[in-house]
Amino acid sequence: MEGVVDYAMRDILTKSGAYDHAVTEFIRINTQKLPKSVFYKYCPELLHGGNTQSGTPVYVQLLGQHCDPMAENAAFAASLGAPGIDLNFGCPAKTVNKSMGGSILLQFPDQIHNIVKAVRAGVPKNIPVTVKMRLGYHDKTLAIENALAIEEAGATGLAVHARTKIEGYKPPAHWQWIAKIGEQVNIPIVANGDIWSLKDAVECRKISNCSDIMIGRGGLSLPNLADVIKNDTAPLSWPDVCRLLISYSKYQRDDKKTNFLPSRIKQWFSYLQRQYPQAQGVFKEIKTHKELAHITSIIARDL
Ligand SMILES: Cc1cc2nc3c(=O)[nH]c(=O)nc-3n(C[C@H](O)[C@H](O)[C@H](O)COP(=O)(O)O)c2cc1C
Repeated sequence: MEGVVDYAMRDILTKSGAYDHAVTEFIRINTQKLPKSVFYKYCPELLHGGNTQSGTPVYVQLLGQHCDPMAENAAFAASLGAPGIDLNFGCPAKTVNKSMGGSILLQFPDQIHNIVKAVRAGVPKNIPVTVKMRLGYHDKTLAIENALAIEEAGATGLAVHARTKIEGYKPPAHWQWIAKIGEQVNIPIVANGDIWSLKDAVECRKISNCSDIMIGRGGLSLPNLADVIKNDTAPLSWPDVCRLLISYSKYQRDDKKTNFLPSRIKQWFSYLQRQYPQAQGVFKEIKTHKELAHITSIIARDL
């Protein structure tokens, strides 16, 4: 998740080993081959075999509209050790869509097909090339056509966020549409959207007819959600979450902006408040503070 799930967050969330793999924030590809520093910035795991410290593979996600540069950058990421390449056709951001990237391409299944095909051809066969899509841009009329185009282009798998771009993040996610896609497409499908609990995961699996699921915001709201779903583990207690928040604040960062970590921690609180009533009181206290040490000392009171 762009601006949210960086390598430190991935490292923390994958510690239990409950995620099969993670995906980087999207890397925007225009017409240039990016230098390796960009790939290392988004995916420092490349320096450690492409895995988080707990050994969870991290796929490098690319977002772009031009076949050749997408293929060239994907091949480069693979040569740097990416265990998988993921292509983003789901991003609803205005700035991204304005320059013909992300979900806007769902109006053009042929173009999506060409991009996936070029990337698949450019990346060694043993490296998976997966795709992320929404159900459409304005509406769902091209959902199956897009999925078929992605399959036909040789994608290894397809994650479907069960909403259109216009539906944004508004509940509900239309899991039944994932089942409809699955009836037509033979590559493995991963169901995504609005899985916040074990109960949601059970329901989503039943309705989407998918055993594989992807979690985004739910994994931030309940940091051991993957473990809860996979192993029926108890949800983390609030003091344990506070310990995670403090460990997150200690990760080494390249970012020189002094407000970077305080704002990332506050951002995490916006997700935690959904699951933990205690987070609301702490957030009220930290939100006006800019000093990292001060913020962590407030959080530490709840240990
Ligand atoms: C702040 C934010 C950033 C996101 N960035 C990405 C991204 O970089 N790549 C991607 O494939 N999806 C991204 N997503 C979409 C999520 O991966 C996911 O598809 C969506 O939130 C629905 O799943 P959820 O209900 O489990 O969160 C982002 C979502 C949010 C809220």
